[in-house]
Amino acid sequence: MPAQRTVPAQQTLLRGAMQRLDLTRNAFAERLGVTRRALDTWLLPASSREHRSMPDVVAKMIGTLGVPAAGAAAPSNLRARLTRPGKPHLLSVDVFDRDLAEEVLRVAETMEPIARREKVTRVLEGAVLGNLFFEPSTRTRVSFGAAFCRLGGAVCDTTGFTFSSMAKGESIHDTSRVISGYVDAIVVRHPEKGSVAEFAAATHIPVINGGDGPGEHPTQALLDLYTIHRELSRIDRKLDGAHVAMVGDLKHGRTVHSLIKLLSLYKGLKFSLVAPGSLEMPPALVALARERGHRVVEADTLAKGVRNPDILYATRIQKERMGGEGLESYPANFRIDRAAVKAHCAKHTVLMHPLPRDSTPGANDLADDLDRDPRLAIFRQTDSGIPVRMAIFAILLGVDHLVSGNLRDATWK
Ligand code: NCD
Repeated sequence: MPAQRTVPAQQTLLRGAMQRLDLTRNAFAERLGVTRRALDTWLLPASSREHRSMPDVVAKMIGTLGVPAAGAAAPSNLRARLTRPGKPHLLSVDVFDRDLAEEVLRVAETMEPIARREKVTRVLEGAVLGNLFFEPSTRTRVSFGAAFCRLGGAVCDTTGFTFSSMAKGESIHDTSRVISGYVDAIVVRHPEKGSVAEFAAATHIPVINGGDGPGEHPTQALLDLYTIHRELSRIDRKLDGAHVAMVGDLKHGRTVHSLIKLLSLYKGLKFSLVAPGSLEMPPALVALARERGHRVVEADTLAKGVRNPDILYATRIQKERMGGEGLESYPANFRIDRAAVKAHCAKHTVLMHPLPRDSTPGANDLADDLDRDPRLAIFRQTDSGIPVRMAIFAILLGVDHLVSGNLRDATWK
């Protein structure tokens, strides 16, 4: 199919410019000499009734602000920058500095029209993903698979130990070598910390960590960062200097382990870390945030620890990592419901959660009485999984520069 060249979507251009110039929406509108309302309508997806096309003169003006156009056709150096040591894997967020993380998120922006099903691309046509999940997963497994398919690739899945040869005693090394002969990239989720790195050591094809026990979850942290930028931009705030509260099982929750490292790449944050006594954030991660100049406050109740944060990131208690211990000590006042939000949060506080949340009656998790609250960003957060994971695949497989030149309109309704 011949590739159809398209002008980069105006949303991508606008968001990229705002991010590179490090301006909030209000400040960016002012710089362009337009109203905030006009800017908002240009940022809406083309499918929205409120959407407006940006006048050419504004696009030209953005060109004069020293912002490179998104989607330039030259190969990017992102793959090389993610390649460490000598292999294009994504195992931990330790590989990122702020610049690299933001460049990956800019690639994710370019994927938005595809993620929204307005455009189609085939840049990964012929490529196959091995999606190996040895621990429960719904959104991570499906969104990795969907992201690969939306780039034009195909996906082979395996779930659980029971149906894999690991149940027959096969080593991680052997499984990795075997699968590498079949596919072009591998996503692995495994219950042991460090296991995905072991998987990666046995292969030369890209391996992405989809969660290694209580270790890391780098793609979740990237999509959380992407969501945080978008949510803060909407309420005209910036991440530098923001107040982020993390609440729940901070000891076993791999999403917060990766997220605190990524957020620590920014400047002057305040972290409120709220966990029951036995489930605190690992001291090494608290120390890292402090070394990077952030203020960290630890508390064991919401009342002591959370006061009007910009972001409240709630987590699920990781029962499966506890072998029963610690469950009784998970107090009811860790339930984040309408009353708790009213008592501890501000009008602008963005409410996040990596999901799944425990929705069984009486669970001490994010409650569903907040579902109609516009501050609740959890489904915008899950939606972000597609463009962010598409960006990671495109970069690791060296096609990120080809996407904007390989778009056509989606034909289905
Ligand atoms: C999280 C995980 O698996 O670490 N879920 C996810 O990937 N979005 C969080 C959890 O299971 O609680």
